[in-house]
Amino acid sequence: MACLAATVHAVNLETLIVITIIGIPGSLRKESFNLRLLKAAQAMTPQHCRIEIESLEDIPLYNGDVEQAEGIPPAVERLKDRIAATDGLLIASPEYNNAMPGVLKNAVDWLSRPPQDLGRVFRGRPVAIMGATPGGMGTALAQAAWLPVLRTLGTRPWFGRSLHVSAAHQVFDQYGIIQDEALGDRLRDFVAGFAAYIAGEN
Ligand SMILES: Cc1cc2nc3c(=O)[nH]c(=O)nc-3n(C[C@H](O)[C@H](O)[C@H](O)COP(=O)(O)O)c2cc1C
Repeated sequence: MACLAATVHAVNLETLIVITIIGIPGSLRKESFNLRLLKAAQAMTPQHCRIEIESLEDIPLYNGDVEQAEGIPPAVERLKDRIAATDGLLIASPEYNNAMPGVLKNAVDWLSRPPQDLGRVFRGRPVAIMGATPGGMGTALAQAAWLPVLRTLGTRPWFGRSLHVSAAHQVFDQYGIIQDEALGDRLRDFVAGFAAYIAGEN
């Protein structure tokens, strides 16, 4: 009898992962600090949550003629489906010229097409933004620049914590591990807070 109870308990734990977050780095660089930040976040998710990182590598430049003639490109359609099938979106945005980088804005513009699909991809979707830069302001202006976009798309942005990583070139070791313990703690707290927000706990 004790043995049976233990088995049932184990099965319940197996099915415990209930929150899946798509992580998108707004950079195509192999050594991107924002990709590193996402990977570090991925390694410190709470038990009931996982982060799956997607790349923008195959997303073409938005072109209305292409959309009209050929529809939504397969890489965009795939990413839309991935976002729609999961519970939240975590964006790691670099800052370019005090705003968001074109490569990420371009991807979001494609993802917002056609407007009839906004409901399944973005509307009501929990979104968190963080960012890393070698500079001193931790992508604060890029993160602010995303706000009107997230509002326009009808997302549900999470403002419970903020994560601005400055001097990113000094933050990670050669394996992408965060060297600064306090920053590691803040990232863990950020991910846990976002997961709780998705779960409706805060
Ligand atoms: C065109 C351009 C503009 C940039 N503007 C800013 C900026 O306004 N603020 C900032 O903190 N860093 C700026 N940077 C530096 C980026 O933060 C840096 O290249 C960073 O490593 C990009 O993110 P990644 O490492 O994820 O690729 C700029 C870089 C480029 C190429």
